[in-house]
Amino acid sequence: MLARAGWGSRRACEALIAAGRVTVDGRTARLGDRADPIRQRIEVDGIRVAPPPGAVVYLLNKPAGVVSTAADTHGRATVCDLVPAEPRVFPVGRLDLDTEGLLLLTNDGELAQLLTHPRHGLPKEYLAEVEGIPGPAALRRLREGVELEDGRTAPARVRLVQTAGGRAALAIELREGRKRQVRRMCAAVGHPVVRLVRTRIGPLTDPHLLPGAWRLLRPEEVRALEAAARDPGPARRRRARPSRPDPGGGAGTGR
Ligand code: URA
Repeated sequence: MLARAGWGSRRACEALIAAGRVTVDGRTARLGDRADPIRQRIEVDGIRVAPPPGAVVYLLNKPAGVVSTAADTHGRATVCDLVPAEPRVFPVGRLDLDTEGLLLLTNDGELAQLLTHPRHGLPKEYLAEVEGIPGPAALRRLREGVELEDGRTAPARVRLVQTAGGRAALAIELREGRKRQVRRMCAAVGHPVVRLVRTRIGPLTDPHLLPGAWRLLRPEEVRALEAAARDPGPARRRRARPSRPDPGGGAGTGR
């Protein structure tokens, strides 16, 4: 937070904290402490730390047919055309041209990096309408990992939500973000995707946001996102502490 507010690199800010120059509501901060710049008074050498000036984070419901790059070489509409032109923002990650649903846009480079870094593996959930009705074997493969040309996919949570008219709706939660991953996974198990909607990014959902509409994230939503991005997730937590008994129900076991 200090780094984003312009107090120097992360390392320089850690040095400020370690040197005891940072206080939260009058108490000396320690490395790893969390603080809320809106509700708490955070000071460095007695000077108040403000949230990053002019930082905005939009949550957009991307419609199909809009590209999610900042500028399109073919002159097509981009997600940046759907939000205010000022301040200039850029998409956090991508959705395919034909994918709909939640996409973040921000002018906060550090937040974008935190949210997209593969090491963090922020979970994202998709609703995939697929051809045919996947049986137990196909669902198990989707959950446990599908062999794709760029390697086997990591364990995923997969739920059969609905079936109608020879099609099924699957809720798929991934912690990876490979190119066209959901589409390739479903095709690999014999159930091509006919419609794909991203319904959740970490803790963020918004069923009321209409296609093409956007809203600003509230500060507490940004904080929840950051916390989720820093959470290693059940599988990684287990790997980090292998001696702990597994209470069950982690990623890969399905729901
Ligand atoms: N998986 C896909 O196949 N496409 C997207 O846009 C996102 C995830």
